[in-house]
Amino acid sequence: MDIQFAQRMSGVRVSAVREILKATEQPDVISFAGGLPAPELFPVDDVLAATERVLRETGAPALQYSTTEGFTPLREQFADISRARGIGCTADDILITTGSQQPLDLAGKLFIDAGDCILTESPTYLAALQAFRVYQARFVAVPTDELGLIPEALPALIERERPKFLYTIPNFQNPTGVTLSADRRRTLYAIAARYGLIVVEDDPYGALRYAGTHIPAIKSLDTEGIVIYNSTVSKTIAPGLRIGWTIAAPEIRRRMTIVKQATDIHTSTLDQRIVHRYLADFDSAAHIERIRASYGERFRIMDACLRETMPEGYVWTHPEGGMFLWVTCREGVNTQDLMPEAMASKVLFVPGRDFFTSDTGQRYMRLNFSNATPDQIRIGIGRLAAVCGSAAQPVAG
Ligand SMILES: Cc1ncc(COP(=O)(O)O)c(C=O)c1O
Repeated sequence: MDIQFAQRMSGVRVSAVREILKATEQPDVISFAGGLPAPELFPVDDVLAATERVLRETGAPALQYSTTEGFTPLREQFADISRARGIGCTADDILITTGSQQPLDLAGKLFIDAGDCILTESPTYLAALQAFRVYQARFVAVPTDELGLIPEALPALIERERPKFLYTIPNFQNPTGVTLSADRRRTLYAIAARYGLIVVEDDPYGALRYAGTHIPAIKSLDTEGIVIYNSTVSKTIAPGLRIGWTIAAPEIRRRMTIVKQATDIHTSTLDQRIVHRYLADFDSAAHIERIRASYGERFRIMDACLRETMPEGYVWTHPEGGMFLWVTCREGVNTQDLMPEAMASKVLFVPGRDFFTSDTGQRYMRLNFSNATPDQIRIGIGRLAAVCGSAAQPVAG
């Protein structure tokens, strides 16, 4: 059948990660591919108790339709959390969203006409590229170095490309794990303010710092109302809840609320109330501390195993938090070509290519260190190093 899809679907591709994740279902596979939190750290008993309280005490409103803006007591809790990250805000500034993925789609709906330029880090989160591609965005990469985005490169790009917004992940970036310094955040904001450039600041990982010191969000500098700040409970409670939030200037937030209403009316009332009860009644700070300690340990184990086993010519980032590190392979290696052997060796990673907006990135791979246990990390990195080692062998003859 010849189905006539909208023109905008022509640029939308199947996510490479989704395809690789299918392979994780095979037995004995050790996956560093997905962006999954450690399942054994989910606060199952506390979420169960919170759910029971919500349904017993407020069953009817928890199952009823509610406002698009979200459950006010939860908005108050997210305002408290955001203030602790340096962002001056109240509950009124918060829109509850379905994960922090949804505000990316809402920003796309609000700002992107076909062919509009969006500035991104390169590499960047591939599901953000997917979200913006639906609106036929044209991507332009901001130059980066090992410390992340180089803000001084922005003025020339802004003048030449007239971008609709800059999309950035300043904390423990996906995929590189790199964090933008306080100085670079200030420079970035000053340039954005000078040009009136909207900044979409995506911060799903900020709470997962296991080393170094906290750096205030770019949004904390936002005197002009140009920064849209997104966060989530996906990495601090559980991603299955699909609860996130966005903070934006009233003019932007009002429009986001209208387009969200057209998208899903509101985020699940029951899930919002469960998250609210969980945050109100249980020690979420102690829980996050456990996650941080565990991810810090897993990063250090992965780093040590990589140092012990990887062949010459491979280097990787040393993130201070989050869930990913980024490997640069020896010159000439194409990580896409390593996939069949990696799958046969029952170890998975994500090849770098899909995180780039241009046809580059063949030399890189993303490794997730939050989902596998320490023992699996030791075994899996051994397998990966063997795969990389065989790629490093000179071809006989
Ligand atoms: C950079 C980034 N933004 C947004 C998301 C979406 O997360 P969620 O919708 O679960 O909050 C993710 C998930 O991995 C991510 O890595």
